Amino acid sequence: MNRRQFILAGVAVGVAGALSLKPSDNGAPYNEYFNVLNNSLKEGGDFIPSMLVDLDLLDNNIAVLKAQLNPAVDYRIVAKSLPSPSLLGYIMEKANTNKLMVFHQPFLNHIAREYPNVDVLMGKPMPVKAAEIFYQSHDNPDSFKAELQLQWLIDSEARLSQYLALAKALQVRMQVNIEIDVGLHRGGLQEAAELDSLLKLIQENPQYLSFSGFMGYDPHVVKIPSIIMSQEQAYQQSQAIYQGFIERLYLQAPEYKKQKLCFNGAGSPSVALHKEKTVANELSAGSCLVKPTDFDIPTLADYSPAAYIATPVLKKMSGTKLPATEFAQNIFPMWDKNMQQTFFIYGGKWLAHYESPKGLQGNGLFGTSTNQEIVNGSNKVNINVDDHVFFRPSQSEFVFLQFGDLITYRRGQLIDTWEILHS
Ligand SMILES: Cc1ncc(COP(=O)(O)O)c(C=O)c1O
Repeated sequence: MNRRQFILAGVAVGVAGALSLKPSDNGAPYNEYFNVLNNSLKEGGDFIPSMLVDLDLLDNNIAVLKAQLNPAVDYRIVAKSLPSPSLLGYIMEKANTNKLMVFHQPFLNHIAREYPNVDVLMGKPMPVKAAEIFYQSHDNPDSFKAELQLQWLIDSEARLSQYLALAKALQVRMQVNIEIDVGLHRGGLQEAAELDSLLKLIQENPQYLSFSGFMGYDPHVVKIPSIIMSQEQAYQQSQAIYQGFIERLYLQAPEYKKQKLCFNGAGSPSVALHKEKTVANELSAGSCLVKPTDFDIPTLADYSPAAYIATPVLKKMSGTKLPATEFAQNIFPMWDKNMQQTFFIYGGKWLAHYESPKGLQGNGLFGTSTNQEIVNGSNKVNINVDDHVFFRPSQSEFVFLQFGDLITYRRGQLIDTWEILHS
C-alpha cells in the first residue's frame, strides 16, 4: 500500500466509524394501548400532568403477588409505595388483608381515621416527638386502638427508653416491634444478644410496653453481585440471621412461644424468594403492584408496569432550534433523526423514563425544566399539541406525590380519581 492508499484507507475507516455512531431513528407512533389512553384523556382529562393507574394490570399484579406468597404467611401492604388511601383500600380488599406498613406520621393519622380496622406496623423508627404528635392528633382512639393495632418500630435501647418515657407521660401502652439487621446494614439490632436488654426493659414495664415481633428487611439479597455470593446463598444467610434472633427471643423469654408475634420480612425485590421456606410469618411489598422502572429486575419479571405519567404537549416545532446555534436547526436532525421535531411539554424533570410514543428523548444542550421540558423525536412520532406524552416513573413513593389525584382506568377508559396523601 502506498502513502496515498494508506491515507484513504484511514479516512474510510474514520467515516465508517463515525457513521456507526450515528443514532438510528427510534421514533414510532403510539401503540394501540397508548393511543386509546391518549384519546380518553383528550375527551375526559384535565390537560395537566397526571399519574395514571391501570386497574386491570394492578389486579393482575395482585394475583401474581398472591400466587408468590407462601399460603402460611400474611401479606402487609407497603403504604409509602402506594400513597393514596383509596388505592390502599382497593388493594386491601382485593388482596384480602388489613395489614399496612406505614412510614410517615401524618399518613399514620390519616389511615387511622379513614381505615380504623387496619393493623399497622411502622416501617421505620419514628423520632419519639413524631410518635407523640401521632397520639396528640389521634382523634378516634375508640375505633383505632393504637395499643392493639399499631406496632412502633424500635431500633435501639435508647429509642426504647424514649418511647417508654412517652408511654408513661401519656399513660398509654405501646406495642414494640424490633428492627433487626438481616444483612442490609440500614440499622436495627446487629447481634441477637442485643435483644436481651430491650426485652428486659419491656418486661419490666408491662403497663406501658408489649413486645410484638421483629422486622427484618432483606432487599440486599437480590442486589449482591453473584461473583460475591449467589442470591440463594444471600437469602439463606439473611434467613439464618433472622432465625438467630427468634431463637434468642425464645431462649430468653419462652412465654412468647404461646403468643402470635409478627415476624415481618421481605420487600418487593425479595418477596418471591420467601415462597418455599421463610422464617417470617408475614411479608411486605408495595412497589411491585405498580412496578416502576427501578423494579425491572428478574425476581419481579411476572409483574407488569401499571402506573404512568401523562402530560400534554404544549408546543410542536420542526427541527431543533437552540439558542445561539439557530444555524444548526436542520443540521442536528441530519445527524440524529430523533431531533427532527421539538416538543415542549407541560412540566417535566420527574424521576421517570419516556414510555410513549417511542423514541422521545431529552435535549442535553437545551437543558431540563420542571416547567416546560424540551422533548425531541423523529418524524415518525406523530403527536401534536394537546396529545399526551407518557412516562413510566422510576419509583412510586415520591413520584406519586408530585401530581394531583390519581386517575384510574381500565382498557384505556378513565374510571375515577383517587386522592393522594400529600402531607
Ligand atoms: C421496612 C421495609 N419493608 C419493605 C419495603 C418494601 O417496599 P416496596 O415493596 O415498595 O419496595 C421497604 C421499602 O423501603 C421497607 O423499608
